Amino acid sequence: MASLSLTLGIVKPDAVEGGKTGQIVAHLEQAGFVLRAARLVRLSEAQAGAFYEVHRGRPFYAELVRFMTSGPCLPMALQRIDAVAHLRTVIGATDPAEAAAGTIRKLFAESKGRNAIHASDSQDNAEREVGFFFAEGELAGLWDGKNVDSKG
Ligand code: CMP
Repeated sequence: MASLSLTLGIVKPDAVEGGKTGQIVAHLEQAGFVLRAARLVRLSEAQAGAFYEVHRGRPFYAELVRFMTSGPCLPMALQRIDAVAHLRTVIGATDPAEAAAGTIRKLFAESKGRNAIHASDSQDNAEREVGFFFAEGELAGLWDGKNVDSKG
């Protein structure tokens, strides 16, 4: 059954530097996501390395860490019905050349490495990744069953 859940999105340094943050957040809100927390951060090498621990050893890992520490990024806790799956759909394929028309990566990404936005890829990772950036008390106005409609 569809349920209201949280996922983590990150507006990556290429999009922040390129002045696309507002357009990306607007796109997410139009897709039914509600922002529950967001903070502009410049990741340290240790933080980026820990966040992308799962990719350690892959050929693109060093470049990924270098890129994610190259400037500020905007981690966001995003809430929606079936948030993880919907965010994956809305952002599009890793490589913008392969992303569907109208997706965030098709609209705003430059390349597979500089691809504008991150999204958690499973519910377990969403919980880990939201917790990586935000304490529970920072998840403002978390759903109490009264103020959110059920866009599905
Ligand atoms: P994301 O899915 O947010 O997290 C892993 C990132 O690694 C991915 O986005 C890409 O930006 C980056 N990356 C760079 N090169 C590759 C590659 N060859 N295959 C997969 N991901 C890559």
